[in-house]
Amino acid sequence: MDKLLIEGGAPLVGEVAVSGAKNAALPIICASLLCGDTLNLTNIPQLNDVATMLRLIGQMGVAVTMGDNGMLALDSGKLDNPVAPYELVKTMRASILVLGPLLARCGEAKVSLPGGCAIGARPVDQHIKGLQAMGAEIRVEGGYVLARAPRLKGARIVTDMVTVTGTENLMMAAVLAEGETVIENAAREPEIVDLANCLTAMGARIAGAGSDRISIQGVERLHGADHAVMPDRIETGTYLCAAAATRGDVVLTRTSAALLDAVIGKLREAGCAIECRPDSIALKAPRRLKSVGVRTAPYPAFPTDMQAQFMAINCVAEGAAVIRETIFENRFMHAVELIRLGADIRIDASNAVVTGVPALDGATVMATDLRASASLVIAGLVARGETLIERIYHLDRGYEHIEEKLRRLGANVRRLR
Ligand code: UD1
Repeated sequence: MDKLLIEGGAPLVGEVAVSGAKNAALPIICASLLCGDTLNLTNIPQLNDVATMLRLIGQMGVAVTMGDNGMLALDSGKLDNPVAPYELVKTMRASILVLGPLLARCGEAKVSLPGGCAIGARPVDQHIKGLQAMGAEIRVEGGYVLARAPRLKGARIVTDMVTVTGTENLMMAAVLAEGETVIENAAREPEIVDLANCLTAMGARIAGAGSDRISIQGVERLHGADHAVMPDRIETGTYLCAAAATRGDVVLTRTSAALLDAVIGKLREAGCAIECRPDSIALKAPRRLKSVGVRTAPYPAFPTDMQAQFMAINCVAEGAAVIRETIFENRFMHAVELIRLGADIRIDASNAVVTGVPALDGATVMATDLRASASLVIAGLVARGETLIERIYHLDRGYEHIEEKLRRLGANVRRLR
């Protein structure tokens, strides 16, 4: 299994381009299941999660053509196997995103339940409840969701909690349903807006994406379209944190500050000078960061996917801060690894109290999930001496060319195979 060896201490300096958003690319790839024509996508990041999703739709009968520079053509004209097997679904929870589109297009679907996940239980009851409200017959048998609906019917759906992939699944199911669907308590994440833009380009009729009430007028069929995937706001935030922690001075290009107001606000509070330009963000770190408390919540509040990275920067900041996780029940696994590097962190249920220390010291640590891994990279870049991060397959799920990008910014990073 690959490992990442980091020699800490070098400030990140220079310019790097942000990749397309993983969490937008995954649902948009699933949107290709909704029509029999070709969906042409650009700015698709080269990530293991994207490769898994392409394998998943490939075995359903979708023709996948990869071009250079993040181009992807998906032709689901010959889609004939509306099944998502356990072997593929178990590695990536986002596979559940095929359920809505398959049901809408094929009238049936057999999708493995995603099962447990390191950061929490993460059930899919809201996806199922919404599809049932649209007339689907659904039963769970042998670990699979078996769904049938000759034609879905528009419905008013109020989700019990704000769910990102739940909103996306229901939105994709509704575009081919008969009549109007209204999703109340919808997630407002920018990735939902990106998916809605792609679906609209395919002929869907959607209003309100980006608000908590999305209404969709079902149409008979969708057609092919071209769509460029939005920039990855979590990758953007991760590199901003890495620069902030290392007393760096960076410019991130091909991204948009408007996607990360909450994160940029917190980095400014920590003492960073940040300049937001139309397609780029410049950050200059202070000599020492000030600690900043964060509380995760659905967009536009502070994202849970940036919680671990802020824990890492607080480890070396001046003062103490409380980090409160409200989305997932078990998302502090990085804390014990950060403590191995010398951090002072106390966990009490969903609160972590982080007291900054003058320096961290390199050690061997283990990545436990995608964003936890990012926090270990940040800590390793700051720590004195060498940090060896094990199980970095988690990082490869969500960060495109991470060691090349970090090296371009002056970091001493090497992949050991
Ligand atoms: C998405 C993101 C993930 C991010 C998360 C929260 C993708 C591919 N992944 O995950 O990176 O961390 O949003 O911003 O976009 N819940 C239920 N029942 C359901 C659905 C969700 O109880 O049917 C709960 C979950 O357990 C969790 C909360 O709702 O506690 C929010 O989860 P959700 O927004 O659905 O996360 P994902 O869409 O899986």
